[in-house]
Amino acid sequence: MRTTIRLVRGSLSLVIGLMAGAAAAGPLDVPGADKALPCSACHGLGGQSPSTTMPIIAGIAPWYFKKAVEDYAAGRRPSPEMEPYAKYVREAGVDDIAAYFASQSRQPTAVPVDGAAVARGRAASQQCVVCHGASGRGDPTKSIPDLRGQAPGYLRNQILLFKTDRRSPGDPTVKALKELMKSIPDDAIADLAAYYSSLR
Ligand code: HEC
Ligand code: HEC
Repeated sequence: MRTTIRLVRGSLSLVIGLMAGAAAAGPLDVPGADKALPCSACHGLGGQSPSTTMPIIAGIAPWYFKKAVEDYAAGRRPSPEMEPYAKYVREAGVDDIAAYFASQSRQPTAVPVDGAAVARGRAASQQCVVCHGASGRGDPTKSIPDLRGQAPGYLRNQILLFKTDRRSPGDPTVKALKELMKSIPDDAIADLAAYYSSLR
C-alpha cells in the first residue's frame, strides 16, 4: 500500500514537473500548440532546445520558419530528420505552427562556449557583418536569419553544410555565402559558431 502511494506520488510529481516545464515554455492553449507537440521530441519544450546540435526554434521569425519548412519539404535543404516533419507541418497548417513558435519566448542557448573561441570568432565575423549585421540579428527584408544565441553545434554544422554545398545545393541565392564559407578553415568555423552563439 505504502509503495503504491509512494509510486502514485512519484508519478504525480513527475506530471506536475512536466506541466510546470510546459507552462514555463508558454501557454498550451494557443492555436498550433497541439500541432507543435511532436517537435518537442527534438527541439525541446516550446522549441527551446537544450542540446548543442538541435536548433532553438522558440521565437523564430515566421518568414524564416516558413522558408525552412518549405525548403525541407521540397528536399532543397536535405535533412532525413526534418523532411517528414516539414511535410507534416504543411499538412497540419504552417501558419498556425509558425505563429505558435513565434509566440514562444526565446532564451539564448545554455550550452557554454569557450571565451577564447568567442574572441577569435568575433574577429573573423567581420566578413559576415555585411549580411547578418553587427548585432547578428540578420535582416528579414533580405531573407537573412537571426543567428544570436543559437546552439553552437547547430551553427557550426550549418556553416559546414554551406561550405560543402550540402545545404540548398546549387541554389544561386546563397552562392556568395558559400564562396565565403569555402575560404574559411574549419577551426575558424567553430570559432564563428561560438561567437554567434554567445551574442544576446
Ligand atoms: C527527429 C528530430 C526532429 C523532430 C521531431 C523535428 N525536428 Fe526540426 N530539425 C531537426 C534537425 C536535425 C534540424 C537541422 C537539420 C539541418 O538543416 O541539417 C532541424 C531543423 C529545423 C528547423 C530549421 C531551423 C533553422 O534555424 O534553420 C526548423 C524551422 C524546424 N526544424 C522545425 C521543426 C518543427 C516545426 C517540427 C515539428 C513539426 C520539427 N522541426 C521536428 C530535427 C527534428
Ligand atoms: C551574402 C550575404 C551573407 C553573408 C556574407 C553571410 N551570410 Fe549567413 N546567411 C545568409 C542567408 C541569406 C542565409 C539564409 C539562407 C537560407 O535560408 O537559404 C544565411 C544563413 C546562415 C546560417 C544558418 C542559420 C540557420 O538558422 O540555419 C548561418 C549559421 C550563417 N548564415 C552564418 C554566417 C557566417 C558565420 C557568416 C560569415 C562567415 C555569414 N553567414 C555570412 C547570408 C549571408
